[in-house]
Amino acid sequence: MLQQVNGHSSGLDAHGGEALREDLQEFLGQEAPLHLLDDLTKVNPVTLETVLRCLQARYMADTFYTNAGCTLVALNPFKPVPQLYSPELMREYHTAPQPQKLKPHIFTVGEQTYRNVKSLIEPVNQSIVVSGESGAGKTWTSRCLMKFYAVVAASPTSSESHKVAERIEQRILNSNPIMEAFGNACTLRNNNSSRFGKFIQLQLNRAHQMTGAAVQTYLLEKTRVACQASSERNFHIFYQICKGASADQRLQWHLPEGAAFSWLPNPDRTLEEDCFEVTREAMLHLGIDTPTQNNIFKVLAGLLHLGNMLFADSEDEAQPCQLMDSAKCSLRTSASLLCLPEDPLLETLRIRTIRAGRQQQVFRKPCSRAECDTRRDCLAKLVYARLFDWLVSVINSSICTDPNSWTSFIGLLDVYGFESFPDNSLEQLCINYANEKLQQHFVAHYLRAQQEEYAVEGLEWSFVSYQDNQTCLDLIEGSPISICSLINEECRLNRPSSAAQLRTRIESALAGNPCLGHDKLSREPSFIVVHYAGPVRYLTAGLVEKNKDPVPPELTRLLQQSQDPLLKVLFPTDPEEKAQEEPSGQSRAPVLTVVSKFKASLEQLLQVLHSTTPHYIRCIKPNSQGQAQTFLREEA
Ligand SMILES: Nc1ncnc2c1ncn2[C@@H]1O[C@H](COP(=O)(O)OP(=O)(O)OP(=O)(O)O)[C@@H](O)[C@H]1O
Ligand SMILES: [Mg+2]
Repeated sequence: MLQQVNGHSSGLDAHGGEALREDLQEFLGQEAPLHLLDDLTKVNPVTLETVLRCLQARYMADTFYTNAGCTLVALNPFKPVPQLYSPELMREYHTAPQPQKLKPHIFTVGEQTYRNVKSLIEPVNQSIVVSGESGAGKTWTSRCLMKFYAVVAASPTSSESHKVAERIEQRILNSNPIMEAFGNACTLRNNNSSRFGKFIQLQLNRAHQMTGAAVQTYLLEKTRVACQASSERNFHIFYQICKGASADQRLQWHLPEGAAFSWLPNPDRTLEEDCFEVTREAMLHLGIDTPTQNNIFKVLAGLLHLGNMLFADSEDEAQPCQLMDSAKCSLRTSASLLCLPEDPLLETLRIRTIRAGRQQQVFRKPCSRAECDTRRDCLAKLVYARLFDWLVSVINSSICTDPNSWTSFIGLLDVYGFESFPDNSLEQLCINYANEKLQQHFVAHYLRAQQEEYAVEGLEWSFVSYQDNQTCLDLIEGSPISICSLINEECRLNRPSSAAQLRTRIESALAGNPCLGHDKLSREPSFIVVHYAGPVRYLTAGLVEKNKDPVPPELTRLLQQSQDPLLKVLFPTDPEEKAQEEPSGQSRAPVLTVVSKFKASLEQLLQVLHSTTPHYIRCIKPNSQGQAQTFLREEA
């Protein structure tokens, strides 16, 4: 068995020198050249080996798109292929009598979807689900489809309305660099990894022209603001500011050249994503004027200085921790950039206030150094998450249109793919839960499509067996007891519970579910979920705390005192909100956990998807190094 590396046969055998099955050999030897097969369902026999061989042959021939029944498989070229995405090619697919007869392409999917809207056959609304692992090309593909619709679904050409139309299409496209600057980061697997999920609804009028759009985001990885894995980076925007600010702005934002920030790791690495001007230009197009932009960047600079506020251990537990000498200046700068009074900022980070008793007496308790760090990080996460949500709402108000002016939509879904690391936690549980839901949606659609095909061919329908993942979903989200409900219950009861106790509770309450397993060799308490894509081990330590995502009310109150215009918008002094912020136990409002919020937004998303005709694009990463011309079958 030969394996192709950089276009050359290496002679390596990826499968331990096993001889090829006879039928495979026959297929590989006799069939038409593999790279000419443009539908994976045509390979015969259909095995993982033949499918991967076919994709590999196509990749080596610079053919990046292949059909697989009702799905389009997209291989990441890892190199610019401009002719593949030119406006001329978009028009060719758009005007072709039968675009599906052209070479497989994302434009075939884009055009088919568009024609479905025009056909008015129910459900008229369409969705394109783009899936794949990190770095496979989901965001690239979604962006490209948005450009396709900006060309083919452009508004009329009369000079005046054309200008208006261009503005809306351009605005929709301009939302991308902004959301990527604030929501993407360089990770080990992708230099431009989306750290949030996104569903964009492109709205079409009766004449099938794009008149507006609406964006919905999911689960921003806000912890990245204050904590980055080694060799990874914070969100792009921080690097854009530090690299792109003018001398004058550097003075205003206290960002001298070469300044070191603990929340800005790997600053020397330059990426093509470090384009401050592109972000600023896009913000301007979306109505975020220069003073507001400068305000945003000033607040972000304030967060960078906040990250340099390092505390020293306190010798006396009754006394608050002191700032390290080197951090005193950071306190001053951060407070000034965030327009917060210096002393209350420091006090809030190092002293906890507890209300207790009938009279709600206030007690002040000095925090340990670790607690001070947690509160500092929490403050940054709180500001960043609200800023991100605010930006999304500004983008939405800039690209939205009057609800009466559109009649149908095409939705594009770009969500994080299935994740499995050596240690997995709540983030992976949510992401993999979303992928299980999407998988179920896909399987249901696939079976329906098969049934229809059988009916057209006059064949009697017999059930095609396909892995049903309902059991796994029952384990994660089922009622009355599931992993989600058990984690939520721990948050609601607010009882001290160790990682081992949580594991025991999950194991005993859900023992009957075949998708639950445990790793006997694992030193740390954990449980295994057998997902459709494989088993994943989740550590129970920290799950409950992450699910609570507690924000000490003092932090919100502090930010409400800020004199900064942007922070005033992000943290209004709303009496209702104040009541909500009271620590649980003091208010009777139900505890809104991360899992319950995520579950609700996922249900809403699936409701939208169910109401549409779905299309699927599966992005594949041909190798984990991001190299062009390299297809490693064991990595794909
Ligand atoms: N069709 C393409 N042509 C050229 N380059 C591409 C293409 N698709 C992807 N790439 C390259 O691969 C990189 C990773 O793609 P992308 O950011 O879309 O991955 P992703 O699936 O969204 O990953 P994540 O889940 O981490 O967000 C891009 O930055 C780009 O350099
Ligand atoms: Mg992405």
